[in-house]
Amino acid sequence: MWIETMPMQQPLTHLQRHTWEHRFANRAKNMNASEIRDLFALLDNSEIISFAGGFPDANLFALPQFRDGYQKSLQDSPAISLQYCASEGYLPLRRWIADFMRRQGVVCSSDNILITSGAQQAIEFLSRLFLEMGDPLAVSKPSYLGALQIFDAYEPDYRFFDGDGVSMASPGAGKAQPLKLIYANPDFSNPTGETMDVTARRRLIALARANDAPLIEDGAYSSLRYEGDPQPTIMQLDIADSGSIETSLVVYCGSFSKTMTPGMRIGWICAASQLINKLTLLKQSSDLNSSTINQMVMHRVADEMFDASVNTSREVYRQRRDNLIRALEDYMPRNVTWRKPEGGMFVWLTLPEGIDAKTLLAKAITGERVAFVPGRPFHADGSGGNTLRLCFSSCAPELAREGVLRLARLIAAETAESDAMAQAST
Ligand SMILES: Cc1ncc(COP(=O)(O)O)c(C=O)c1O
Repeated sequence: MWIETMPMQQPLTHLQRHTWEHRFANRAKNMNASEIRDLFALLDNSEIISFAGGFPDANLFALPQFRDGYQKSLQDSPAISLQYCASEGYLPLRRWIADFMRRQGVVCSSDNILITSGAQQAIEFLSRLFLEMGDPLAVSKPSYLGALQIFDAYEPDYRFFDGDGVSMASPGAGKAQPLKLIYANPDFSNPTGETMDVTARRRLIALARANDAPLIEDGAYSSLRYEGDPQPTIMQLDIADSGSIETSLVVYCGSFSKTMTPGMRIGWICAASQLINKLTLLKQSSDLNSSTINQMVMHRVADEMFDASVNTSREVYRQRRDNLIRALEDYMPRNVTWRKPEGGMFVWLTLPEGIDAKTLLAKAITGERVAFVPGRPFHADGSGGNTLRLCFSSCAPELAREGVLRLARLIAAETAESDAMAQAST
């Protein structure tokens, strides 16, 4: 009888009775509040100049078109828009996305598209589908923090590749076990803003082929190019080699978050139809479907003005990038380095060795009233303490300039202090 098993359990200590930790599944033990999450709270403090959250500028959202879209969807087809829909997503939107992917050089149809709640859910599903606990997983160093948070639940054996797609020596090197999954964010990456060239992309395809491992291509920022030649998607290159999307190892994750709005939570996976069928089962068991009305409205608005909207965003963000780079050139101490990104939302700073960006952040917030994201959490191996990410997309130019001035002042003071301590100890 069930009740007889009760005395077998260890009695709970007083502390255990008042905490939840001991009740959580093992896979939840790596789930800790992220620096990003903590920092989001800062955005409410108007005195702080924030380069922290990777938010698109809300002034760029197509508000009249979205308002119109919701109204029309409710008026014209309430029985569809307020109803459940197919787990793979609203067909006209899937067709629109297939067409968008074809414009990126990926030959595909709506059968190759699954709508997800943002690219975040796409990465989560792919991890759930492909990763066992402890599996070898290749990522860049640094990598998108939101993806690492998903991967961490599987306690993967992290292996690394650099911005040229070259595999780096890692604790896992030399082990015979092949890679199970590869994750890359090749265009204007979060957090570094860097873009992989064709050679680097081909190296990742070769890595995927050599290991027979799926390669996630996270294209969250791909539409936001401000200069330079567009690079082919990794998926396009792989399809050209393998002959068809059905034989490609690349799984493309896309999103409307950075181009249209993140609030409607619409992203997608573009992949071989066999994989899409399996992922649809995951979608079904996870949340049945993404919001029908949001998909309908996104379809209407994207169909009407995606290109125009993205062109406007590109122009605004390009100016903000240029403004930030100018401010960095004008104010930053010489021992701080960065590269000008060709697109996206981020500039990545490397500080002198010995300056810890997390410690700096605390002083930046309380003293200079400026915020950024420290670089270490983007590194799966815990390195990168002297790096930080600046997001320029939602910070008005005058404020951004002032923010860089404050940050530069703080870094200069920190560098002087750390030099003085080093001298005193010699
Ligand atoms: C590289 C990258 N991938 C995926 C996402 C998740 O985007 P979404 O809003 O589509 O879930 C983000 C969000 O910041 C991102 O930076």
